[in-house]
Amino acid sequence: MILQSLELEGFRNYGAARAELSPGANVIFGRNAQGKTNLLEAVYLLSSGRSHRGARDRDMIRFDGDTARLTAHGQAFGREITLELRLFRSRRRETRRNGVKLTRADGRAGMPASVMFEPEDLELVRGGAARRRAELDACISQLRPAYAAALGSFNRLYAGKLKILRDCREKPSLLEALDDYNHGLCRFGARLIFYRASFVKKLAEAAARVHRECSGGAETLTLRYKTERGAETDGTAPAAEEIRAITAALEARQREHREHEIASGTCLVGAQRDDAELAIDEVPARAFASQGQARTAALAVKLAERELMTEELGEIPILLLDDVLSELDETRREFVLSKIRGGQTIITCCEPEETALSGGGAALRVEGGVITGGSG
Ligand SMILES: Nc1ncnc2c1ncn2[C@@H]1O[C@H](COP(=O)(O)OP(=O)(O)O)[C@@H](O)[C@H]1O
Ligand SMILES: [Mg+2]
Repeated sequence: MILQSLELEGFRNYGAARAELSPGANVIFGRNAQGKTNLLEAVYLLSSGRSHRGARDRDMIRFDGDTARLTAHGQAFGREITLELRLFRSRRRETRRNGVKLTRADGRAGMPASVMFEPEDLELVRGGAARRRAELDACISQLRPAYAAALGSFNRLYAGKLKILRDCREKPSLLEALDDYNHGLCRFGARLIFYRASFVKKLAEAAARVHRECSGGAETLTLRYKTERGAETDGTAPAAEEIRAITAALEARQREHREHEIASGTCLVGAQRDDAELAIDEVPARAFASQGQARTAALAVKLAERELMTEELGEIPILLLDDVLSELDETRREFVLSKIRGGQTIITCCEPEETALSGGGAALRVEGGVITGGSG
């Protein structure tokens, strides 16, 4: 997708603002707390359907308003596209594509995609397994609407199971439903495991290559999906068969741990515990990577995501870089800037970054929710 223009009304700290964007590099600059990240959030929200900060709709509406409207105009899959998203304080959001209201069943097919990289993404390397699972879930959901649906079902069942385990001592009759929940969790969990593992396999190859280029070939980055014993897969076998086999393995693990789960009141088995482990030269990155190594590894994963999404979608996702350029040393910065040619990029920084625009592009200033400049 290439965004040509973006209009924001009542979104975050924007009253009514319009940005004309370049199909190449766009630098959004301005002091702190002026709306730079909010602008990236708007693009991410329009393209992925959710806030990269996980914000609720009502928190993205301007404090003094009841509704927000985000409109983007551009090109996707060789066609003109206008996307409009309206957020409401008290009811469900509405999305329109070329004027036609989309329903849940329309999914995200034919919708643009984006990849965000921000300083907090160091947590991809340093943080807990939940951060890495969330990353996989966000990417795969942009690629496969059916995955997003399975994830939703899994999460609902998981919340229900936690409740049963928590309350069953006071109300033992709740346990009657436990096996149904477990069964559903194994079924949906097997889907999550299969698609995550197969995504990780491809992501690992791309990330290792990007990482080699970025680190000058000195180090090797590996990424492996880690799941329940017996449920391991590399995601290459035919999906239906493999998912059945994973379901059976999960069911067996579940039976082994059923009584322990009831006794301890916690879930001990399932896809909600999985991880995608990163290592540099076979040394676990989470515990041992230096700050610089962690940053390069996170960057490699993000750029690899963009490559995979480009392959799968047949379109380059918009790359959103929030405050990361200034944190990179000269070599990595040059590397990033060389990598982003060929697609649309929106970069935020405090200063108008000349180097980012050496190949052409637009510079926009953001001040108190007002946008000036651009390629209009
Ligand atoms: N729903 C909202 N309504 C009005 N202002 C908001 C809302 N959400 C965030 N803001 C304001 O937006 C500003 C932060 O904007 P942000 O884009 O994060 O800044 P930066 O330019 O540093 O990236 C803060 O001052 C915050 O109070
Ligand atoms: Mg910011």
